[in-house]
Amino acid sequence: MSTSLQIIVAGRDRETIETLAATAGEHFKCEPILQHIDNGHADPLYGHHETPDLLILALAADWSEQLGAICDRPAAARPTMLVIGPETEIDAIRLAMRAGARDYLSAPAKKHELIQALSLIQEEERRHDRGPCRWTSIIGVKGGIGASMIACNLAELACRQNKDTVLLDLNLQAGSLAGYLDVEPRNSFFDAVEAAPDLDSVALEGYMSKTATGLRLLAAPADQLVLPEQMSPDSIGTVYELLADNYNHVIADVPQRLDHVIAMAIEQSDEIFLVMEQSVAALRETLRFLELLSREFAIDESRVRIVINRFSKNASVTERQIRKNLGDLAISTIPNDFRAVRESLDMGIPIVRHARNSASTKALIRLGEELTGQKPERGSFVSSLTNILRS
Ligand SMILES: Nc1ncnc2c1ncn2[C@@H]1O[C@H](COP(=O)(O)OP(=O)(O)OP(=O)(O)O)[C@@H](O)[C@H]1O
Ligand SMILES: [Mg+2]
Repeated sequence: MSTSLQIIVAGRDRETIETLAATAGEHFKCEPILQHIDNGHADPLYGHHETPDLLILALAADWSEQLGAICDRPAAARPTMLVIGPETEIDAIRLAMRAGARDYLSAPAKKHELIQALSLIQEEERRHDRGPCRWTSIIGVKGGIGASMIACNLAELACRQNKDTVLLDLNLQAGSLAGYLDVEPRNSFFDAVEAAPDLDSVALEGYMSKTATGLRLLAAPADQLVLPEQMSPDSIGTVYELLADNYNHVIADVPQRLDHVIAMAIEQSDEIFLVMEQSVAALRETLRFLELLSREFAIDESRVRIVINRFSKNASVTERQIRKNLGDLAISTIPNDFRAVRESLDMGIPIVRHARNSASTKALIRLGEELTGQKPERGSFVSSLTNILRS
């Protein structure tokens, strides 16, 4: 919902609609319009040509005409609606639902019930405005290949498009993203998983660190050794679900190790960026990963992009040879840019901000555009491998 909300509170009893309007106005920090229905018509939106953001309708004895007027409107012109009506009138509840009511409260509505219903509607609207979350996992096929550098820069770029972006560091024992973004997290992904039984969207926000540009980082644990076995699959599932439900884009920096934390993140992924380099060993690992993603996670090639990092035209393994071995996969390259990348990581400023005109920034921006394009299609799939790793 926007900040300048238009709320109409309609009903035949003035005192009732004034009370409802006072609570709604306080909750949404706005001034609801009172629609006192006191003449022949029953339409709660009589005289209003624009559909309000929210209609709170207190039903009267002529509830079927009141709700009928809403049902008569084309579906797209029906407002988000909260209905307050007689408790025992099943037909009124049914008609309210047919008219598109989000909730139905028994009259007289208690203040705390009304606030609860308004909060739920608000949360649903936020989710609707946000659209479905996109989850991108960045996996280096070998250690030290540049996966974290690419993850933090892609997250920085995604955050420019949409502030609700989270960078998730799944390197439990050697997370580098806090350093690469120059933040000092007070809490980590592990802390959030430990708190999972009591976690909600508001509490989860408290486990994140924010950079100067507004990017959120759910960091790796800093001063303790954490093993995947210390995290229960249910708690990990809770954190992943909350991330997917409350943010627009999750970019996960995923180590090549395979355990239940990683397998569950791969299952969440809409797309996977496999980071490799121009070497025979990296090509072999890439092929192994592709086979694993397809066999164990049913992730087909349309959801995988290969990123050749530290790319050089003069390397002994050429882009052509890599393409020949990988078939029709989408491939991007990030040039070898030792000095600028080193400097940006040491300073804790993503290279897309630190060296805007560098060749690697241009390549990362091109790669980032892949993240704002259409979200890849994916089915829901629970890997049998994940079940084994979970147990
Ligand atoms: N495009 C590039 N050009 C030159 N150097 C690079 C490039 N990308 C990364 N590096 C260098 O490679 C090193 C490793 O980068 P990074 O930490 O991102 O790798 P990683 O795959 O996340 O490693 P790890 O397996 O330890 O998590 C860094 O020192 C960085 O400076
Ligand atoms: Mg890393």
